[in-house]
Amino acid sequence: MKNTLLLSILLVSISVHAQTVQSPGKKLSLTFSLNAEGEPTYALAFGKKPVILPSKMGIELKEQPSFLKGFSIAKVESSLVDDSWEPVWGEVKRIRNHYRELKVTLRQAEIKNRAMQITFRLFDDGLGFRYEFAAQENLNYFTATDEKTEFHLTGDHKAFWIPGDFDTNEYAYNETKLSEVDAREGQKAGEIFSRSVIGTDFVQTPLMMKSADGLYINIFEAAVVNYPAMCLHIDKKTYTLTSTLAPDAVGNKAYMQAPCRTPWRTVMVSDKAADILASKMILNLNEPSKIEDVSWIKPMKYVGIWWEMHVGKSSWNYADVSNVRLGETDWKSLKPNGHHGATTARTKVYIDFAAKHGFDGVLVEGWNVGWEDWFGQWKEEVFDFVTPYPDFDVDELQKYAASKGVKLIMHHETSASVTNYERRMDEAFRFMKDHGYDAVKTGYVGKIIPRGEQHDGQWMTNHYVRVVEKAAKYKIMVNPHEPVRPTGLQRTYPNWLACEAARGNEFNAWSVGNKPDHETILPFTRLLGGPMDYTPGIFEIKMSFYDKTKKEQVHTTLAKQLALYVTMYSPLQMAADLPENYEARPDAFQFIKDVAVDWDDTRILEAEPGDYVTVARRAKSEERRAENGERRAESAQKWFIGAITDENSRTATASLSFLDPKRTYTATIYRDAAIAHWEKNPMAYTIERVLVDSKSALKLRLAPGGGAAVSLIPSTQSEVQQLKKYSN
Ligand code: NOJ
Ligand code: CA
Repeated sequence: MKNTLLLSILLVSISVHAQTVQSPGKKLSLTFSLNAEGEPTYALAFGKKPVILPSKMGIELKEQPSFLKGFSIAKVESSLVDDSWEPVWGEVKRIRNHYRELKVTLRQAEIKNRAMQITFRLFDDGLGFRYEFAAQENLNYFTATDEKTEFHLTGDHKAFWIPGDFDTNEYAYNETKLSEVDAREGQKAGEIFSRSVIGTDFVQTPLMMKSADGLYINIFEAAVVNYPAMCLHIDKKTYTLTSTLAPDAVGNKAYMQAPCRTPWRTVMVSDKAADILASKMILNLNEPSKIEDVSWIKPMKYVGIWWEMHVGKSSWNYADVSNVRLGETDWKSLKPNGHHGATTARTKVYIDFAAKHGFDGVLVEGWNVGWEDWFGQWKEEVFDFVTPYPDFDVDELQKYAASKGVKLIMHHETSASVTNYERRMDEAFRFMKDHGYDAVKTGYVGKIIPRGEQHDGQWMTNHYVRVVEKAAKYKIMVNPHEPVRPTGLQRTYPNWLACEAARGNEFNAWSVGNKPDHETILPFTRLLGGPMDYTPGIFEIKMSFYDKTKKEQVHTTLAKQLALYVTMYSPLQMAADLPENYEARPDAFQFIKDVAVDWDDTRILEAEPGDYVTVARRAKSEERRAENGERRAESAQKWFIGAITDENSRTATASLSFLDPKRTYTATIYRDAAIAHWEKNPMAYTIERVLVDSKSALKLRLAPGGGAAVSLIPSTQSEVQQLKKYSN
C-alpha cells in the first residue's frame, strides 16, 4: 500500500478563525470556524451550492465541562492523500483513497487547556470528520452523555427514512419531506421482535435525502468502534439534524479514555444519484485489514434449511413443548413434532442440491437444542451452540458434506442473550472447526441481555467486533443478523462477510412485507455501510402456494428476484427458495447458478432512490466448482446486469460500452413477461439469448415491481453462428 503525502502545510496560528479547503477535484468545499463563544462549526458546499450550513459540533460529558464551547484554535494542519488499496472481496478490484485532510487542534483555555482535535477528510464525493482526544495531562476517563454534531440542511429535503430506534433497523422505508417525518406512525406493531422508537422526530442513519435543486445528500457514519451508533433528531423548523447516540442500561452513551476517537460522521453529496452508490468513502474511512492471512476468506453462494421454516413448512424446534432447560432436559425423551426442518435426511437433500448446482455452502437453522422456548422470555440460557437435536447427526453430515465438496454453514441464534453467547463462544467455534464448519450466521432476535442494553449501544458494538475478532482466530467467517447496521468495518475484518441489519426478504413470508420500492432504497441507505444477507431468489412468490389461506407474498416479480443478485452487492448470497422450487424452473435458476459474488468492476448505469437501480458488474477471475465437481478457472470477461424498478413499470437502458470491444458476447436476458406484475402476475418471465457487443444498448422493460437480469459471456463459435444479433 502506497501512501503519498503530496502536500503538507502546517499553520500554527491562534488568530486563524476560519479555514476553507477544497476536495482534490474541487467539487466540494469545507469551511471550519469558531464563533464568538468558541464553538466549533463546519459548513459544506457542492460547487457553489451550500449543502450543510454552518453547524455546531462537539460532545456533552457527564460531571465534566462539555467539549462544545470555549475553544480556541491551537493548530491547523492540512494534507493531500492519494493512495489506493485492494479489498479482499468487493465491487471493484482497486479502490482509490483520495482526499484532503484538515486537522484542527482546539484547546479550552478555561478547562486546564484541555484539547480536542477534529479531523476532516474531504473527498470529491463527500466529507468525513471525527473527534479525537490525544493523551493529555488533564483528560483521562470521560463519559459522553450525548454527541451534539449538527447537520444544518438548506431546506425541507425529501428523505428516505426509517424510525430512529437503537434496537432494530428492520423497518419499511418511508419517503416524505423532513418536516413530515413521524417516526411513531406507519409501522405495523408486532412484526418486529424488539423495537424501541426514540421519538416522533428521530430517524436512523444512513439517511438519504434529495434537495429541491437536485442534490443527493446522505448522512451516515463510518467505523463505529467502541462507541454507540448514531441516530438523528430533526428540527423541523430549521432543518437541522442533530446526532443522538444509543444509550446504555443506565442512560450513558459512551465511556471513553484518552487517547481515543469517535467514529467518522459522514456527508455524501452529488448531483448524480449514481455517485452515491459508487462512493467508496465509507470503506476508505475504515482501517485496513487487521487480518494478515486472508487466504481462507471466500465469498460464497449458499442454500439452506431456512425459507421452509419462514413459510411454515417446517419448524426450527424439534418438539412442541415449552418448558426446557439447557443441561437438564433429556432431548431424546421428547416427542418429535414430525416437521422439524434440520434433520439429517433433509440436510442431505440440500447438500446434494448444492453439489449438483455448484453452491459453496448449506446453512442449517434449528439444528441445535433450545428452540422449544427460545423467544419472549428474556431468558439467559437458551442455547449452548454445541448440542445437536437427536435427529441431526453432525458427524455423519460432516462426512457427507465433505464427500460432496460442500461446506455446512453454522447457525448461532443467540436469542440476544449475549452474555450467554460470550461465555460459550470459544467452545462453539471449536465445535465448528472440529466438524468442518468455517462460516457462521449469528442472530440477535429479542431484547438484549445484559438487560437494559440495546442492539446499537457501545457494549453491543464492542460485542460484534469481539465476535469477528475471535472468529478470525478460528478462521471463521461471520454473518450476523439483527446487529447494529454496518459502517464499513468489513474492510478491517474481511471475515465479516455480510450482515442483515435491515428488513430482509424474510418479511415477505410472514408480514405485510417489503413494498416494491424497498430494494431501490436499500442501496442508498443500509448497503452504504456494507453487504447485506438479504436472501434473494424467491421463485414461489405467493405464500398461498404453501397454504391456501395465506395472503402474504414477495412484493416483486420473479425476474426482479434474479436482478437483486446484481443490484444488492454482497460477497455472500443465498439462493433462498426451496430446492424443489428451483428444480421446477431450471431455466430461470440458471442465472442464480451463473451469477458471481465477487467483482473486479462495477458500473452504476442508472439510479434514483425509491424508483430504480440498474447495475453492471464484471466477475472476478476465479476458480469455481463446475457441475461435474472439477474446479476450473473462469474468464474475467463475464459481466452481469441487474435492473429493478419500484411499483411503476419502466424501461431500463443498459449501454454495453463497458464490454471488450474486440469480442462478441452472448447475452442471456431474464426479464418480466409482458403480462407480469408483482401482485397480479409475479411469476411470468421470459428468457432470450442474443448476440451483443460494446456498441449494443439493451432496452429492458420492467413490469410494475419488476426487474431484469442479464448475463454477458464471450460467445462460442457455434453461438456466433446460431444466435441472432440483439435489436430492440
Ligand atoms: C431472524 C433472522 O433474520 C432469520 O434469518 C432467522 O431465520 C431467524 N431470526 C431465526 O434465527
Ligand atoms: Ca432478522
